[in-house]
Amino acid sequence: MLYSFDVLHSLQAIAKLTMYFIPEQLNIQTQQLREHTVFNNWDVMTEGWYIALKSSDLKKATAKSCLLGKQRIVFFRGDSGSVYALDAFCPHMGVDLGLGNVIGENIQCLFHHWQFNENGQCVDIPCQEEVPSNVCLAHYAVTEKYGYIWIWPDQSSKAKVLEIPELEDKAIFFKHDEAYFRGCHFHITMVNGIDAQHLRTVHDLAVNMQASLCEPQPHHLEISMRGEFPQGNKRAQWMRKLFGGQYAYRMIYAYGTIGALTMMQNVKLFGKWNLPMLHMLYAYLPLKEKRSKVVPIYVTQKRKGVLGWIISHFLLWLTQRLFYFLKEEDGMIYENIRFNTNSLLKIDQPIAKYIAYINRLKPSKWSARDIGKP
Ligand code: FES
Ligand SMILES: [Fe+2]
Repeated sequence: MLYSFDVLHSLQAIAKLTMYFIPEQLNIQTQQLREHTVFNNWDVMTEGWYIALKSSDLKKATAKSCLLGKQRIVFFRGDSGSVYALDAFCPHMGVDLGLGNVIGENIQCLFHHWQFNENGQCVDIPCQEEVPSNVCLAHYAVTEKYGYIWIWPDQSSKAKVLEIPELEDKAIFFKHDEAYFRGCHFHITMVNGIDAQHLRTVHDLAVNMQASLCEPQPHHLEISMRGEFPQGNKRAQWMRKLFGGQYAYRMIYAYGTIGALTMMQNVKLFGKWNLPMLHMLYAYLPLKEKRSKVVPIYVTQKRKGVLGWIISHFLLWLTQRLFYFLKEEDGMIYENIRFNTNSLLKIDQPIAKYIAYINRLKPSKWSARDIGKP
């Protein structure tokens, strides 16, 4: 008893200590933090597709449970190959169903062998014939794309996992990269792509960007950044020679849970030859202790023949190199940020618009209960 009391106190002490390492909880008395309804709000998970597991990590007739924000979900793949997702804790006594067995298209709890079907309905209780009709679990829409299993925090969704507009309905090659982690809400890391000032100050790209914004469909925000390289700086001069004077890229955000970056828009090599655009997706997930996970996925069109294969894979490699180059230069910023938006300038308008867009998104049932209520 004394031992568990000590353990409890140590855990409380650790929890208190970690508070001092979370920038959001610092300087509260002297630097008020602007709170948003959805943006940078850890109590909200918006409706949207969330990346969960690699498809190859969930074999037929196996189950795995995953923590997505504050929600533990069991994923299982039935004998048919279809994937299902339910709330993870057995309604009988709360065992994690990820420990259970898959039987046909059902999941069986390890403890007393109750079985649940794809809709979360209890269909078998071994110790009695009758199954109470009110024993059930919430079930969620799932889909597989880009080699991953994605989940939507509701029973169904009409939306598709984001596709690159130029590649819609085309055969594609894709490549995942190792996930990386940031010490802030992923809504903040998503700002990076549209922060025009930091291109100059962090990435040494002395370029003046013009932003244009549109909402091509509900819950999507598209921001195109376009600019001309000035002559002065060495990196800019080098890029001018190689790619011409213009620099343009585009970010598309879908439901605040996925971002698509398209680089090298309308670029001509040495001003003559059209170069292919480079595309990548960022899939975001909130984690425990106010950290976020980002999974980069590089995407390109599938080209025919051996040469086509080589070109496609070269472009995936090139996208990865460009991404590494940008990621390494601002990684430490997102580990130490206490994001606040009290002094935005005109040049920061895309950021203000992006925050407003995130605040308009719909909280899902995985959000804290009082969210969105007056
Ligand atoms: S805890 Fe799952 S069947 Fe008893
Ligand atoms: Fe950056």
